[in-house]
Amino acid sequence: MVQYTDELKEEIRAANDIVDVISQYVTLKRSGRNFFGLCPFHKEKSPSFSVSADRQYFHCFGCNKGGDVFTFISEIERISFKEALEILAERAKIELPVSENAEFNKNQYLKERMYKINAETTMFYHERLYKPLAKIAQDYVKQRKLDNNTLKAFKIGYSGEFNELYKNLKVKGFKDEEILATGLVNKNEKGEYIDRFRKRLMFPIMDVSGRVIAFGGRKLENNEKIAKYINSNENLIYSKKKHLFALNLAKLSDSKKIILVEGYMDAISLYQRGFNNVVASLGTALTEEQGRLLRKYSDQVILSYDSDGAGQEAIMRGLSILENQGCDARVLQMEGAKDPDEYVIKYGSGRFKLLVDNAISLVEFKIKMIKSKYNLENSSDKIRFLKEITKVLSGVENKIEKEIYIDKVSEKYNISKEAIYAEVNKASYNKDKNENLILKNLVSKKQEIELDSTVIKRENMIIYLLINHFRESYEPIVTNISIDDLKLDANKIIFKKILESSAEDSEKILQTVANIEDLEIQSHVSEILVTDYGITSIEKCIEDVINIYNRDRLINRKLEIVKALKNTSNLTEKQKSELGNELNNIINELAKRK
Ligand code: UTP
Ligand code: MN
Repeated sequence: MVQYTDELKEEIRAANDIVDVISQYVTLKRSGRNFFGLCPFHKEKSPSFSVSADRQYFHCFGCNKGGDVFTFISEIERISFKEALEILAERAKIELPVSENAEFNKNQYLKERMYKINAETTMFYHERLYKPLAKIAQDYVKQRKLDNNTLKAFKIGYSGEFNELYKNLKVKGFKDEEILATGLVNKNEKGEYIDRFRKRLMFPIMDVSGRVIAFGGRKLENNEKIAKYINSNENLIYSKKKHLFALNLAKLSDSKKIILVEGYMDAISLYQRGFNNVVASLGTALTEEQGRLLRKYSDQVILSYDSDGAGQEAIMRGLSILENQGCDARVLQMEGAKDPDEYVIKYGSGRFKLLVDNAISLVEFKIKMIKSKYNLENSSDKIRFLKEITKVLSGVENKIEKEIYIDKVSEKYNISKEAIYAEVNKASYNKDKNENLILKNLVSKKQEIELDSTVIKRENMIIYLLINHFRESYEPIVTNISIDDLKLDANKIIFKKILESSAEDSEKILQTVANIEDLEIQSHVSEILVTDYGITSIEKCIEDVINIYNRDRLINRKLEIVKALKNTSNLTEKQKSELGNELNNIINELAKRK
């Protein structure tokens, strides 16, 4: 594989501001010199995720993940460091050198060819839809009320018979292995090449940038025996859990909301009727990756699943995925039609717009689910209902929000506000009690390691000084403190790296340290860099920390001598007197330092 030079890495790092990059995934708020937000790597309700704009590092004090912009992308997208580098190079429009490695180049080349084949195929299917032989598809499109602008916007097409696509691709000069890699054509046992999609209405699936990566094909006959849709299989350029149908169009919308539907046809039909902010999941339950895409391109996501289809579980899961990623997620409630396409055709876009505006939150949705289990005319049911919704309501952190929900519930289900408050307060009290207990346990554990933690914090500060104040701190620190003085392995490694480096300013030192390719070390570095050591004077701080180490060294030596002098039998007179002198000096020195 191609190895990128450190200079290139630096160029890419410098061109991707970490605050900008992370802001695409996390809502960050500035506080002093750092930015804070909810950690995207673990569930949390109060922000312990910190980003330093100065040092271009992030760190989470909750889950301890941290590092530079490459680490962030590689962790969040779950890809290798190298792939992260490639993504960030693309983001900054920096061209990467082509590898000398044949295998790597071959793969890159194959991907390029696959994109070309998909583009060619899209045109082939699309043009074919307008030909006389496509009557069945044209009739179907009419029946589904799709207009020509829509056909053009989505490049909808009609697939051929037998091996028409294959033949066309061959004429265009594509090789068999390239064509097979896209899955658009299969080879049967007899060695014949047969198109995967035949006589189907074709929906090209595009990535965010509008490149065609796959296809979905809908059957046109009313034949129960064949699958309604067949889709491209996953391949080198297509992973269905990472993409959303029509996101390339929705991202252009002015609206800050995105409507998430289940079907291709729902997205297309809504788009045609003025909702240009619709995307469809690709036949899977919403994935984390898709959640992040939605978060990136919108402020609010409105789940608009089929009224029968998905089931409440799927909605609940989708909502929690989105909420955990800091998304404002809502559920659209639809009655009188099985899916958004049918609804908007039947009742018009005005009424669908109303549904969008009245979409409910996760809390309201949960309460509604609970309600459906009980008959509120029955008083014992009503009590059980109240107990269950109390759990949901007491989970709402924001006080004002909580009050609004309680008002709504009280009015809607005719339960007195006092009764709801009484239950909610009881539940909150129990919750607090539990949390206090957990906290107590944590604190006592913490005290056991307290001693160590001051030592660790001190040596972390040494690394901090070496990185951030290299010129002032390097000489005094390396002349007074050695690797063996440090306790933490990560600190030893970083210290060694700094000693070995020929870099002579903070910027370069940070780069040296950033290039240690070890996730644990990077996380440690990030913690060091975003920690506030409360330093007022650099010189004083360096002096103090060196003094502590020198003093410790003296104390240790003192203990050693005292021990040796206890057992004088194996010492000569000369040795005894030398040790005695040294001990006196140490005692004087320590006294001076106090
Ligand atoms: P739907 O059956 O709701 O599809 O399935 P739709 O788009 O509304 O189609 P029409 O209105 O019946 O024509 C939702 C999605 O699930 C996937 C497709 O992505 C579809 O859009 N699906 C469904 C399949 O992949 N295969 C199938 O056989 C059915
Ligand atoms: Mn449908």
